[in-house]
Amino acid sequence: MSVRSPRRHAWKIGLALLIGVIPAVATATTADAAAPLRQLAEAKGIYFGTAVAANRLGESQYVQVLDREFNSVTPENEMKWDATEPSRNSFNFGSADQIVNHAQANGQIIRGHTLVWHSQLPSWVSNGNWTASELTQVMENHISNVAGRYRGKLYAWDVVNEAFNEDGTRRQTVFQRVLGDGYIATAFRAARAADPTAKLYYNDYNIEGINAKSNAVYNMVRQFKQQGVPIDGVGFQGHFILGQVPNDLQQNLQRFADLGVEVALTEVDIRIPLPVTSAKLAQQRADYEKVVRACLAVSKCVGVTVWGVTDKYSWVPDVFPGEGAALLFDDNYNPKPAYDGVVTALGGDSSPSPTPTLTPSPIPDSPPSPPPSSGCTATYRLVNEWPGGFQAEVTVSNNGTSPINGWTVSWSFPSGQTITQLWNGEHTQSGANVTVRNVYYNGNVAPGASTSFGFLGSFSGSNGAPSSVSCTAS
Ligand code: G3I
Repeated sequence: MSVRSPRRHAWKIGLALLIGVIPAVATATTADAAAPLRQLAEAKGIYFGTAVAANRLGESQYVQVLDREFNSVTPENEMKWDATEPSRNSFNFGSADQIVNHAQANGQIIRGHTLVWHSQLPSWVSNGNWTASELTQVMENHISNVAGRYRGKLYAWDVVNEAFNEDGTRRQTVFQRVLGDGYIATAFRAARAADPTAKLYYNDYNIEGINAKSNAVYNMVRQFKQQGVPIDGVGFQGHFILGQVPNDLQQNLQRFADLGVEVALTEVDIRIPLPVTSAKLAQQRADYEKVVRACLAVSKCVGVTVWGVTDKYSWVPDVFPGEGAALLFDDNYNPKPAYDGVVTALGGDSSPSPTPTLTPSPIPDSPPSPPPSSGCTATYRLVNEWPGGFQAEVTVSNNGTSPINGWTVSWSFPSGQTITQLWNGEHTQSGANVTVRNVYYNGNVAPGASTSFGFLGSFSGSNGAPSSVSCTAS
């Protein structure tokens, strides 16, 4: 299994915190023709997501593909302002709740989309004759109600969406006109107050390569980090045209990551000028592979989301007549070559399985190889620390040659730390000594694979590193 960066794990820790368990899919460690995208992605330390529409959740094929392939969802329209607050201070969460409930029941993290955006903004906001203090109150009230509704349940929020023009100037939305440049920072602060555990993202399109628009976003993020504005991530939407995924995508993601934020591809689709041909599908496959490889090459890239489950319901043909077929599954939910491109990038085997042949058992003519060994190691990592509290993660790896069917990790705390909440394990603590055993879904660890558990702890004085961290396989 590849070594995962600390940040890569953020979505997974978030998921564990939010729903209490890591999704009960086996961890893929080697190429596996049958492994769905969510499993392959998890093995690489990222999530693989899709936009989802509440009104499709009654369609069995849609739901089957959604839950088999994706471990992150973004409501396509249901959390937008026109859906959640169609008239002032009158909130409606019916279809958003439907998606949240579905995701939680199926081990999917949720990217909230979106709190402040000029589009799908009801006319009572866009046409209001506001003073700055009135509109600030309206925006803060919206954020506090919508983000507050899902407090502790979402992995991330797209706090502000599409605030820049192509030339890097600010888009003249009602928020920009009435409140000036400062409205974005105000929105992020309100979102942090409403949901302190959600990762807060700025999200935009045409910022995937290095250009005037991405430079402007970059400068804003750098300024926010300097000023302590609570921003955690940048979402690169990724609405691409066939053959036009920028060559500097990875470089651009990396420069944002170097500012200290996580990055994600949040709305990927790659539209094809119709009619579809096999050559165009092959190009689309290469394009998708390029996008996923760029994310994997940047340790702070936490995941890739495609903007829809099937071409059948994609927004593309409505907005770009004569173009379409932009997603991974066709109108009949058949995976397209683009799907294989993602599988390849994620290290899966997208070639047809070879026909098995029977071979006679070989007669040993040399000494038998050594018996399989089984062993585990545990690695303790401090994820975050604040006055009096901390979050840590322990990775359990099977370095032997035979599978592990259960594990026990123990260590001792040097300075009176106490575990207050632990997930993906069962723990006991007696004074300084801690023992954590696997739970039913993460005891089996294949050779070369690993699993992890995490916890929150409290301390007074110092938070010294644990000693005698050990792992015993059973
Ligand atoms: O719900 C109404 C329905 O009652 C009405 O009969 C019908 C008639 O046109 O419209 C329906 O609303 C549509 C809505 O999608 C829900 O289907 C809107 O017209 C339509 O404009 C809206 O399109 C959405 C679009 O955002 C709006 O800007 C797309 O589904 C959605 O995929 C798209 O997503 C955006 C991201 O949020 C931000 N980034 C770009 C991306 C693609 O445009």
